[in-house]
Amino acid sequence: MFKIHKSLGAMVAAGLLAVTAQAASAAEAIKIERQSWPFSGFFGTFDKAQLQRGFQVYQEVCSSCHELRRISYRNLAQPGGPEFPEDAVKALAASAQVEDGPDDTGAMFKRPGLLSDPLPKIYANEKEARSIHNGAYPPDLSLMARARNTENVAPWYIHPFLMLRDILVGYQEGGADYIYAILTGYKEPPEGFELMEGMHYNAAFPGHQIAMANPFAAGDGQVQYQDGTPSTVENYARDVAAFLYWTSDPKVEERKRIGWVVILYLIVTSVLLYIAKKRIWSRVEH
Ligand code: HEC
Repeated sequence: MFKIHKSLGAMVAAGLLAVTAQAASAAEAIKIERQSWPFSGFFGTFDKAQLQRGFQVYQEVCSSCHELRRISYRNLAQPGGPEFPEDAVKALAASAQVEDGPDDTGAMFKRPGLLSDPLPKIYANEKEARSIHNGAYPPDLSLMARARNTENVAPWYIHPFLMLRDILVGYQEGGADYIYAILTGYKEPPEGFELMEGMHYNAAFPGHQIAMANPFAAGDGQVQYQDGTPSTVENYARDVAAFLYWTSDPKVEERKRIGWVVILYLIVTSVLLYIAKKRIWSRVEH
């Protein structure tokens, strides 16, 4: 009997701890500003030019540390994405050396990349990546926009209303908002903030210490846009976040389109069924 009481006590204590821990982490939730994205909402579609600029930023800045292994070269040319001309993508793939094999002698060999190859591998494995980056691991960014989200910074009783609002407007761009906030979140640490060695202060990152140095440290002009869009850090962050939203869900445009077709189909079917029902039962009612 005593034993049961003891374990009950432990459970209550653990529960209380969990609640207080949650309360503490809720207090630390960081407000991430929502951006307006061309692909947001039920009718949103990608801005191809923006995805192309985002890929340029990824190539020139992020790809030295981050892989994008779930995206293949052919995806860059397919409908619903950046839609680069296929010849250009072929040439880009061919400029990469891809390991293939084994050949007839059992040896692995290198060959120029093909449309069907994934984007380049940088690290043999996570350990190698960590040893290069001082113990930190730059994650593959393919699914990053799905893996992160924004938190509702409001009293708990407001949350159901915020969730309802998000459902009504079809909000699912939290990952893009977060990536944008991280990339523009490098600031001077506030007075008295203790930054650990090799870490960088970031206003949007949980705990405010991030191992990634500001990728846009060189500031405006670091990447040269060709389409007349101003070459600013703000635009780099926005465009690469949009691009990473696409990599995390390359079929989103198609899915939204099919969704509307299905709804239209259901409406037409309902009307037809209603008319049929009226006709059949009219003889009984009178
Ligand atoms: C010099 C190497 C380097 C470059 C260049 C770089 N990153 Fe990182 N990145 C890292 C490292 C290391 C981490 C892990 C940080 C940590 O866990 O503290 C990281 C983490 C991230 C994260 C995850 C943050 C989280 O919530 O866990 C995102 C998103 C990200 N990087 C995006 C980018 C983008 C977009 C670019 C290009 C504009 C970029 N990075 C360029 C090294 C780099």
